[in-house]
Amino acid sequence: MDIWKKYKGKFIFLLLVGFVFIVVFFIKSPLAYKTIPNLQTPTQDQPQPQHQPPSVCPLRTPGQTIIHLNNTKHLLVSAYMDQRVKHGDVRIIGIFRRDSIQPLLCVFCCNNQLHNSMSPAGILQHSDNFGFPFGTTDVMCAMPQDCKDPSVTLLPDSQNMTPFSQTFLPVQNQESGGKGVNTFQFSFTVCISSLFGNYNNVLQLTQTLEMYRLLGVNRVVIYNTSCGPEVDRVLQSYSQEGFVEVVPWPIDRHLTPSQGWLFSEHGGDLHYYGQLTTLNDCIYRNMDRSHYVLLNDLDEIIMPYQDRNLMSLMNKLQEQHPTAGVFFIENHIFPKKHFEPSGKFHRPQWEGVPGINILEHIYREEPDRRVFHPYKMIVQPSAVEQTSVHSVLKSFRGEVKVPPSVCRIIHVRVALQGHLTKEQLNVDTRLWDFHEELIPRVDEVLTRLGLLNSEGQS
Ligand SMILES: *[C@@H]1O[C@H](CO)[C@@H](O)[C@H](O)[C@H]1NC(C)=O
Ligand SMILES: *[C@@H]1O[C@H](CO)[C@@H](O)[C@H](O)[C@H]1NC(C)=O
Repeated sequence: MDIWKKYKGKFIFLLLVGFVFIVVFFIKSPLAYKTIPNLQTPTQDQPQPQHQPPSVCPLRTPGQTIIHLNNTKHLLVSAYMDQRVKHGDVRIIGIFRRDSIQPLLCVFCCNNQLHNSMSPAGILQHSDNFGFPFGTTDVMCAMPQDCKDPSVTLLPDSQNMTPFSQTFLPVQNQESGGKGVNTFQFSFTVCISSLFGNYNNVLQLTQTLEMYRLLGVNRVVIYNTSCGPEVDRVLQSYSQEGFVEVVPWPIDRHLTPSQGWLFSEHGGDLHYYGQLTTLNDCIYRNMDRSHYVLLNDLDEIIMPYQDRNLMSLMNKLQEQHPTAGVFFIENHIFPKKHFEPSGKFHRPQWEGVPGINILEHIYREEPDRRVFHPYKMIVQPSAVEQTSVHSVLKSFRGEVKVPPSVCRIIHVRVALQGHLTKEQLNVDTRLWDFHEELIPRVDEVLTRLGLLNSEGQS
């Protein structure tokens, strides 16, 4: 009893210390485990253990623009950060078979290591598909936190597939997350949706590219399925110089692309060589580097009629419409069958060059506004979520129809209203205002490539 009395205080003290120790250990330990580096995702400064599965996720090669999603009928094109919408942080742009949409899981690779969590993908099919079996589809994925150098792919849910049998897409536009940047590398970029067939209209192509340059365009992005031999040489030369960016677009190796825009009339798997997909990809591709993107075809020139260049046009339009991000420009057809009678721009040097001389076509059809009249667009890329050809499907800023007296598209091609005679058409020589600068530039390119008719050179 004496002994108990003597040590009672110390005993209780030890009991308390033990209790506190046990409490601290059990509460602390789960936290402590979290700080132990996850063996599945070692970071750069931790050496990788030997027993790992293959550590580098199979990334697509730079020239590979279209990948097949293994065990599905779908194709993937690109992945971009996009924090403008609530559905997720990463937008994958794809071409999906519309009748076989299945649940998919997002798989990320961070810092070259497979991330060990998968999350369900949000599948958003674009509303425009013109009846074709395949359509442009966005897939939204939530990105794991602190994911360095992310790449992403999709796995069909419910199939026991390893992520390593899929190709991963690098996630682009990481700095801005799609919210746009403050300073842009380019003011104006033209997106040309798809070049196909044996397109060999060299003269019109060269004149058009030089006109773009005179109007202040900094970059032309062209999705190339195929083209003729001379056009190929012209584009190689422009892309070496950096003015043109050719994106390989071998859609014909994956699908039977349609040459037309309507499934019921033209058949095929996909609308017009995948035009809707390339336009969307082009907008995201340029979101962080170009203030404006022009969505038009290679035979179309978006031409300001009261300004000398696009910069001065857009400064004015934005001043009038500060909240607008999408500008519609009316298409005007200049039939190639009607020639300007004096022949002042019919140059013998250009006679051997394949293609149309746009300076010879000055007769403009008055659009029939009772029927559907197509517009093309100038957009701020960060204002657009999904686009079609003549309209945007989802956007964040206002839309403006630009009056034709301010800006219109000069579109030299076959007549739309073929019955009209010259006398019934408008004379429009706007292109001639640029001839002094345009002709020497076109000559220089054609001479460099050995395409200029040598009889005319003297
Ligand atoms: C597709 O998946 C199968 C197995 O699921 C795999 O054997 C094959 O290599 C994969 N193909 C590609 C291109 O990764
Ligand atoms: C366009 O694509 C075709 C077919 O792949 C290729 O032969 C040609 O060289 C490409 N042209 C350019 C300028 O990349």
